[in-house]
Amino acid sequence: MNSGAEAVETALKAMRKWGYDKKGIEYPKAEIIVADGNFHGRTTTIVGFSTDPDSTSRFGPFTPGFAVVEYGSLEAVKAAITPNTCAVFVEPIQGEAGVVIPPKGYLKGLRELCTANNILLILDEIQSGLGRTGKLFAFEHEGIRPDGITIGKALSGGLYPVSAFLSSDEIMDVFTPGIHGSTYGGNPLACAVARAALDVLVDEKLVERAAELGAYLKTKLEAIPKDKINAIRCIGLWAGVDLKPEAGGARKYCYALKDRGMLCKDTHVNTIRLAPPLVITKEQIDWAVQQLTEVLA
Ligand SMILES: Cc1ncc(COP(=O)(O)O)c(C=O)c1O
Repeated sequence: MNSGAEAVETALKAMRKWGYDKKGIEYPKAEIIVADGNFHGRTTTIVGFSTDPDSTSRFGPFTPGFAVVEYGSLEAVKAAITPNTCAVFVEPIQGEAGVVIPPKGYLKGLRELCTANNILLILDEIQSGLGRTGKLFAFEHEGIRPDGITIGKALSGGLYPVSAFLSSDEIMDVFTPGIHGSTYGGNPLACAVARAALDVLVDEKLVERAAELGAYLKTKLEAIPKDKINAIRCIGLWAGVDLKPEAGGARKYCYALKDRGMLCKDTHVNTIRLAPPLVITKEQIDWAVQQLTEVLA
């Protein structure tokens, strides 16, 4: 497909159709379990199960069939499962929420719950995937295999709209010719760009690089004076820096950093999210952390 949101829409359609065609759920009763704090894109179905008022307000009425549960809680997922549940769909790490890393064992627990109940486990790797966390995919940190993933963004090195839903034949088979598509989905230019970007990822060892430089970034971030900082989460080349409420919100610091030539994003009022390019150098990390230190001071 083109945008990440379209890859997610494709995945949602596959989850539901698998539920009817393969699991035998009565039509149209399929339910998908999702997590609070999620960000999966901006289409009407997707924002319908967002818990962020900025995404949802005044865009309803929304698509039914989603159960929203607490992110990171296996108990909450367990309690939401019904005979009509076709899939659990979550981000392995929540990016827009501020690089929120779930408790250890969460993905493994989801895998076990889904397998035991004949439910698909589909992960949104659009932001976390393709090297960002120091693994090719974030789910590898827990050694599990999901039933499907969505990818986008880095699939073209951020250069061109191209996204995908990846899964097994057994699940993909629910799409027979003519029932799903897009004028520009899988167009030759996008595919050529994606193939080149994936070659760069492998040839330049960007996944390994993200792991190594991510550890360096973490050490540097943790050394910043803590006057205004509440918490730091860093995995690979991806970090959320939570500011104390008295710091007055993350956005002004992001603007100040922009003026110094460093782009990052405020999320949920008090968090600065850093997602540097995987080709960043150690010297550039030193420079970036210096800018952040100065701006916070
Ligand atoms: C996890 C996740 N899923 C989906 C999307 C949507 O991608 P796009 O903006 O390309 O539609 C994003 C974008 O930030 C994302 O972070």
